[in-house]
Amino acid sequence: MESFLIKGGRPLRGEVTISGSKNAALPIMAATLLTDEPCVIRGVPNLSDTRFMAQILKSLGAETEFKKGTLETRAKKIQGYADYDLVRKMRGSICVAGPLLARLRKARISLPGGCVIGARPINLHLKGFESLGAHIEIVGGYVHASAKRLIGATTFLGGRAGSTVLGTANVMMAGALADGVTVIESAACEPEVVDLANFLTAMGAKIAGAGGPTITVTGVKKLHGAEHWIIPDRIEAATFAIAAAATDGEVTIKNCRSEHLRAVLDKLNEAGVSIQSREGNLVVRRGKKLSTADVTTLPYSGFPTDVQAQMMSLLTLAPGISIITERIFESRFMHVSELTRLGADIEIEGPSAIVKGGRPLSGAPVMASDLRASAALVIAGLAAKGETQVNRIYHLDRGYERMDLKLRKLGARIQRVEEK
Ligand code: EPZ
Repeated sequence: MESFLIKGGRPLRGEVTISGSKNAALPIMAATLLTDEPCVIRGVPNLSDTRFMAQILKSLGAETEFKKGTLETRAKKIQGYADYDLVRKMRGSICVAGPLLARLRKARISLPGGCVIGARPINLHLKGFESLGAHIEIVGGYVHASAKRLIGATTFLGGRAGSTVLGTANVMMAGALADGVTVIESAACEPEVVDLANFLTAMGAKIAGAGGPTITVTGVKKLHGAEHWIIPDRIEAATFAIAAAATDGEVTIKNCRSEHLRAVLDKLNEAGVSIQSREGNLVVRRGKKLSTADVTTLPYSGFPTDVQAQMMSLLTLAPGISIITERIFESRFMHVSELTRLGADIEIEGPSAIVKGGRPLSGAPVMASDLRASAALVIAGLAAKGETQVNRIYHLDRGYERMDLKLRKLGARIQRVEEK
């Protein structure tokens, strides 16, 4: 297993180019199952998750070729069965359920099970499928979904923490080939949902309202092949912006859409970080001094839960009390104990973490527990005095394309090593 060895205390300087979005790519890759014609998806980041999704498409019978950021697929003849061994490795694979049900009127998908950040049930996905007339059974850890016909209907997808991103994606894809009109209420508004809707529209789907809380899908008989460029990864952009501020550096972030980052940029501003837009790029540097900020994670366009951990690393450096409240996932504070190992002072009170910031961090060996927690530990290691070893970086490789290479180009002293 690999780790990162980081010598901290050096400001990041220079330019970084953001890769395509993992969370837009995964459902769009799954959507290619909706047609038997060739599809070409460009700007797909080379990550263990996207390589894995390509494997899943292949296991379902699709021809796929994934190289240099371009995925070419043709799902001429496919089967409706995705087994446990595949699905358990990546929860995002649940988004093949909608396309399989739509195309084959049946799907047998392993239940994804929980993960370290929360129970992550799929009841809303199944509710959406049932509202379109699908019969759902859970047998032996598998969801068996089948329908003679899928009939458009209105379905409310709001849950415990508000809308569901992949649930919205799945029902949108099932509705694309249903008879009649599907209306998704309390739909997720994330840019990744909009990017999927744009790809489906390019395939001939009729979708209105993506990006807002009500999405209307008018079913069509058949979808055709299409080409698409994936949007830049807003979570990667936010991660590099925070790393620039945490190391008191100055970084130009290229290929990012600031309109997708409003809530993050607003909070960074509040925390004393200077952000300028220059020729379509963002230039990020720490202002005079860091200030405290209270953060609550919410569905889009609120502050993204996928940036909560990274923001916590930054706020450990801001003198005073910052309160971070996690409203989306019930156990997404795994990074707290590891940041404490680096000298941070953080207490967890229910859904909130109370960060007493300002104490300098010092390097130590730490353990990554999930994708965004590992990014937070890398940022803290870059800001800390001395050496930090971040173990189990396979978590990070799931969602960041060659982060170590990009950081070294910004002057970071970071190496990928075999874990001792
Ligand atoms: C997507 O997951 C992202 N993953 C997650 O990013 C992200 O954290 C999440 O959206 C929220 O923004 C991908 O796009 C591949 P949800 P998703 O359904 O769709 C509850 C990362 O770091 N819920 O919007 O699985 C659920 O438990 C990952 O890149 C139900 O109760 O998340 C959670 O509390 C991590 N029932 C909340 O809703 C359901 O049927 C939001 O989950 C579905 C969800």
